[in-house]
Amino acid sequence: MTDSRDKAPKNRSAEWFGLMDKDGFNHRSWMKNQGLPNHLFDGRPVIGICNTWSELTPCNAHFRILAERVKRGVYEAGGFPLEFPVMSLGETLMRPTTMMFRNLVSMDVEESIRANPLDGVILLVGCDKTTPALLMGAGSCDLPTLAISGGPMLNGRFRDQQIGSGTHVWKFDAMVKAGEMSLQDFMDAESCMSRSVGHCMTMGTASTMASMVEALGMGLPSNAAIPAADSRRNALAHMAGRRIVEMVREDLRMSKVLTRQAFENAVRTNGAIGGSTNAVIHLLAIAGRMGVEFTLEDWDRLGVEVPCLVNLMPSGEFLMEDFYYAGGLPAVLRELGEGGLLHKDALTVNGQTMWDNVAAAETWNREVIFPLAEPFKPQGGVAVLRGNLAPGGAILKPSAATPALMQHRGRAVVFEDIDDYKARVDAPDLDIDETCVMVLKNCGPKGYPGMAEVGNMALPQKILKQGITDMVRISDARMSGTAYGTVALHTAPEAAAGGPLALVQNGDMIELDVKGRRLHLDVSDSELAKRRAAWKATAPVNERGYAKLYQDHVMQADEGCDLDFLVGASGAPVPRESH
Ligand code: FES
Repeated sequence: MTDSRDKAPKNRSAEWFGLMDKDGFNHRSWMKNQGLPNHLFDGRPVIGICNTWSELTPCNAHFRILAERVKRGVYEAGGFPLEFPVMSLGETLMRPTTMMFRNLVSMDVEESIRANPLDGVILLVGCDKTTPALLMGAGSCDLPTLAISGGPMLNGRFRDQQIGSGTHVWKFDAMVKAGEMSLQDFMDAESCMSRSVGHCMTMGTASTMASMVEALGMGLPSNAAIPAADSRRNALAHMAGRRIVEMVREDLRMSKVLTRQAFENAVRTNGAIGGSTNAVIHLLAIAGRMGVEFTLEDWDRLGVEVPCLVNLMPSGEFLMEDFYYAGGLPAVLRELGEGGLLHKDALTVNGQTMWDNVAAAETWNREVIFPLAEPFKPQGGVAVLRGNLAPGGAILKPSAATPALMQHRGRAVVFEDIDDYKARVDAPDLDIDETCVMVLKNCGPKGYPGMAEVGNMALPQKILKQGITDMVRISDARMSGTAYGTVALHTAPEAAAGGPLALVQNGDMIELDVKGRRLHLDVSDSELAKRRAAWKATAPVNERGYAKLYQDHVMQADEGCDLDFLVGASGAPVPRESH
């Protein structure tokens, strides 16, 4: 090899490509079958492009183009890009739920990075779980890392009406059930909703997590909102490719960016965007991988009083494309910073502080991005509820709930699991009215398994036909980020793990008091003890494969649902030579 390699700073990849022996020969020679010239092995930073492209993940189906743009930037800055695939998670197709596989993907990412000659990593993330999964896996390795989100789809339009991913599916479905929309019109709306590359364009989980990437400092400014189909998304990928090479030279590792300050910024940002409840679980899991002290309580303490500044579906009326044109996340971060709600000096991947990045951001449309002094909604964050029904906590998103229901006492109508719910919810003889509290059990991390997004269970048809659109609902499930309603989610411990939710019976009275942060089952302790003694676990048990590993080791929602043996960063030392 050439002298230039000897003069270069020693990168991790030099332990593979810099060896002047049989092993070095092997490492270089086989790579050269791709037409790679000698000089690429001279010690320059090797950048892994971790790609979740898949035609089974439609939200990430444009990622090969994005990866090519990253490569341009990496080459331009003197790096050596190598793209590698990891398992992809497509929200709309995978069963039982992508959430079950989030941790598996994180293991795929972690081991792919650790086992290979990489000095820095670009994470291509988009559809809901791909973002946390890749951040978790990369976090465990702690190399210089930069995330690029794939960007939201263009606004949906159906018969000259703006329609949002997910949000309008729930709305239209309820309208069909209430007899207000024909099935033909419902089918016609399909192609009008998803009309370009990109992920859900509501402020659902994907857009929330893309915003979290930016608020955490893990993405370049404007990462969250540039539409996938906008040429500026490709330019962002190009710039990210240039920047990751510099990050390797600066040794700007993930742990220098993902500090407690970064997580606090993310929680407040989630409040300001009225973000998805799923972010609660994902950020807890990412912090766990980084060894950052960060708990469910932080969500309530830091985030719930942050007003919602953006008028985006599902809580509002606009969509991500509008958000970008209005100024995007930098404009929101500036509002937070000016209101004293941002750690301005938190470091970001471009080497600048958060405030350096957003201080000059402008808002171009005040119907979309509201000022902090006159917010869109007074509360945008997540309320953490506790009580004898949720000793480990449950969460509720006030901005998606009906104000009149946030203090409510009602009779429980219990569904033992999702099959029971599906079988009985529309039965004409179901004993329920709009004052009841719908309770769904066995949909938590172990119970489903995977903690499906069924917590916003549709109301019974006979209730919908009365024109009623919301009721109090409680479960150990999650809820789609595009959904809405007065829904207490993530109840911990879950029913399948023997949490108090398992003991609720039809006719019990339940009290929800969001202001008092209380979720109470009005049943005596002695009666609950009797029910506990008679309780038997009913959740299906997987006997093999990843599902077994998952069920055996998944932690509860208040701990981020990671596998217990994956928590804590371990870095990416060079594994022992295998040849
Ligand atoms: Fe992929 Fe919504 S289905 S982001």
